Amino acid sequence: MQRASVAAVLFASGILSGCVADVDGTPGLDDISKGGAAPKPPPPPPKDGGPNSLITSGPIKPDNPFFLSLGTNGRSCATCHVGVEGWSMTPADLQARFDATNGTDPVFRTNDGSVSPTADVSTLAAMRTAYAMLLNRGDIRVGIGIPPGAEFSLDAVDDPYGHASASDLSLFRRPLPSTNLAFLSAVMWDGREASLGSQAIDATLGHAKATDTVQSQMDSIVAFESSIFTASGSVVGAGGTENLGATGGPRNLASTPFYIGINDPIGMNPMNTPFDPKAMTMFSAWATNPGNGHPGWSRAAIARGETVFNTHQIAITGVKGLNDKLGVTTIQGTCTTCHDTPNVGDHSVAMALDIGLTDASQRTPDMPLYTLKNKTTGATIQTTDPGKALISGKWADIGKFKGPILRGVGLRAPYFHNGSAATLDAVLDFYEERFGLGLTVQERTDLLAFLQAI
Ligand code: HEC
Ligand code: HEC
Repeated sequence: MQRASVAAVLFASGILSGCVADVDGTPGLDDISKGGAAPKPPPPPPKDGGPNSLITSGPIKPDNPFFLSLGTNGRSCATCHVGVEGWSMTPADLQARFDATNGTDPVFRTNDGSVSPTADVSTLAAMRTAYAMLLNRGDIRVGIGIPPGAEFSLDAVDDPYGHASASDLSLFRRPLPSTNLAFLSAVMWDGREASLGSQAIDATLGHAKATDTVQSQMDSIVAFESSIFTASGSVVGAGGTENLGATGGPRNLASTPFYIGINDPIGMNPMNTPFDPKAMTMFSAWATNPGNGHPGWSRAAIARGETVFNTHQIAITGVKGLNDKLGVTTIQGTCTTCHDTPNVGDHSVAMALDIGLTDASQRTPDMPLYTLKNKTTGATIQTTDPGKALISGKWADIGKFKGPILRGVGLRAPYFHNGSAATLDAVLDFYEERFGLGLTVQERTDLLAFLQAI
């Protein structure tokens, strides 16, 4: 507490923020604001991460480098990882930021905020078009080329924005939450970062366009983000997620055990503990005692939804990374076959899967479509994002992404790596179409209530 207030005073007096520019040799906000087209500084961070986040390292220190502009374009980590938006960012907030700043908020930068790095941003109207994927879906343009020695080549590109090439595919992706990181089995949608440390460096060099990074600042960022836990603390209708014996909310989440392979269903658990499909147990107390009146009805629905998540049978077919790996055409599974980490919901091993989101059939006109050709067989695949294949170079990895952590999911729409599902309802539409879930109206409503409550 004592240290925090000293730091806050230094920060407020400008001493600390001035140091930042001096230490790493790159301009801080002050230097930028001297220029003509001065980008506005990032909005001040909230005093805490909001009621749904617990920060075990203590009150947020606004001088933590997570909240500072460490590069040359005014951005900080918090530009795209907003506490009250589940440490991701939502289109509603981005539209409000665009309107409030006439598109000068630091998130609106052409290096990766626009649909192409050469998009026209000369007028306000042009900017709305250039930043459409950000404004509509909250997507950042991640540019990755086909790696040397890949088993495939780029046969054709259909990029509505006229930029993508074999050395720089445009991949429109959602910011993964910079919270609950204690439970990660892979970093980034395609698992391309070896650690949170390398991720922080690359994010500072890439998103914030720094020319260099300072290791002590990177360490502070990783220590801070690793101490954040986010989950719904309360739900409209049902009230607090810790009431009447339930174990929802960030406090319980912070003490949830995890190790790589925990509750794995296919023999990858190092403890050899048998897989338990009942991976979610936060709301089981409400199944027997939901309480009275309207809150009681809402709690009972959430508890039923948890049971649907744990037990509703899904015939899993054609999932690359799962069915082919096991050599099983149909796996009788549940949501928890893939979202297996107990009370967290990510995949507890680094095992990227292709559930069909990038197939040509799912492509919308605002997304590029790539035709990849197998160098050995000559076969072709059309995909909107090759995913892990751009890291491994392997044909078999095309369209594979990690199963993300589901806690706090209600705070951070839209969903999937490309934001293609605007709501949780749309997520279930996808699963219904893809796997023929066969949920009754009641089961679907309950499952949605559960997802909103985690
Ligand atoms: C311009 C927006 C933007 C900025 C600024 C930004 N990020 Fe991100 N962040 C993203 C996107 C987009 C992804 C997912 C990209 C992918 O997987 O290909 C991501 C992913 C992450 C992840 C991976 C989480 C997981 O589940 O694997 C972490 C951790 C993270 N960011 C932390 C940071 C830190 C720390 C900073 C500041 C140094 C930062 N980000 C700055 C957009 C941003
Ligand atoms: C075959 C494995 C598998 C099954 C079964 C499965 N999921 Fe997923 N889920 C994934 C993967 C992989 C992703 C990430 C896909 C992507 O974005 O590319 C995902 C993403 C999600 C997301 C989006 C999270 C976000 O932050 O964008 C939600 C919500 C979700 N799943 C809920 C469910 C529910 C509910 C069920 C059961 C009806 C279910 N999943 C069944 C593998 C699976």
